Amino acid sequence: MGKPWKTIILAGGTGSRLYPLTHSVNKHLLPIYDKPMIYYPLSIMMLGGMRDFIIISSPHDLPQLEKLLGNGHKWGINFTYRAQEKPGGIAECFEIAEKDIKGSNVALILGDNIFHGTNLPERISEATKNDGATIFGYEVADPSAFGVVTMDADNRPIALEEKPKNSKSNLAVPGLYFYDDNVLDIAKALTPSTRGELEITDVNMAYLKQDKLHVEQLSRGTAWLDGGSHASLFEAGQFIKVVEERTGLKIACPEEIALRMGYISRAEFMMLIDEGLDTEYQHYLRRIAKEVS
Ligand code: DAU
Repeated sequence: MGKPWKTIILAGGTGSRLYPLTHSVNKHLLPIYDKPMIYYPLSIMMLGGMRDFIIISSPHDLPQLEKLLGNGHKWGINFTYRAQEKPGGIAECFEIAEKDIKGSNVALILGDNIFHGTNLPERISEATKNDGATIFGYEVADPSAFGVVTMDADNRPIALEEKPKNSKSNLAVPGLYFYDDNVLDIAKALTPSTRGELEITDVNMAYLKQDKLHVEQLSRGTAWLDGGSHASLFEAGQFIKVVEERTGLKIACPEEIALRMGYISRAEFMMLIDEGLDTEYQHYLRRIAKEVS
């Protein structure tokens, strides 16, 4: 499509399902085992080739996120921070980021969605080559807590629903979306749903109506988790712990990804290590420095 890509990471909302954990701490700063939650969506997008990010959260929480992530330059990427005054829905993010995304294609990832799988970075970079919009379908046992897509016999999308009580389809739509530069106009034309939110499912529905919605199925070998409830937060942490201990490799280590993707040089990576405290995380980075030539 030729136009540049910007990536929105949505890290606002009330986190009400995680009270009292989220009473004073933003959900996306909570730990998924050994890293803050927001590292995971950020890392998968970095692996998919994205380097220009807009982070959206509440005015109260933005300073803390900025303290954690900075301007991104040390990782060879860029962060712009934008405030969402009140959680008015996921699709509000496009208007909030209007001046940042004008004339660009837009990827959106929800800050509590965690993806892990071998070919996912390739799937992301492939999605950026499609026209219109690209979303994913992921088979789940109970889709009622998600956006759900129904496919026809030729594997083409025919319907989308947000949190349906009884859906014939088991294909949930994860919080990872790719849009062309029409998304802003589509989002501006939306009206709030019965729960008072601008729904991302309505954005996808608009693309479906125009016959411009691609649905790519994620394979069973891909893990899709979220940290939205106490149980899922705990399970996601356990999952990361098990895989990291078994492999001896960290999932979602932005420094390592920046080095492996060539976003920073080896010299810059060594500087990051030297600037850091003497921690287990730094020891890991030292080990990576020896392994990656
Ligand atoms: O996790 C995937 C699901 O995410 C999709 O299948 C659904 O279609 C989509 O609506 C969404 O459903 P949730 O009910 O899980 O969304 P939730 O309200 O939990 O918000 C998801 C993330 O977006 C969370 O990290 C907080 C952030 N958020 C949410 C809203 C409504 C914001 O930053 N601002 C908001 O206004």
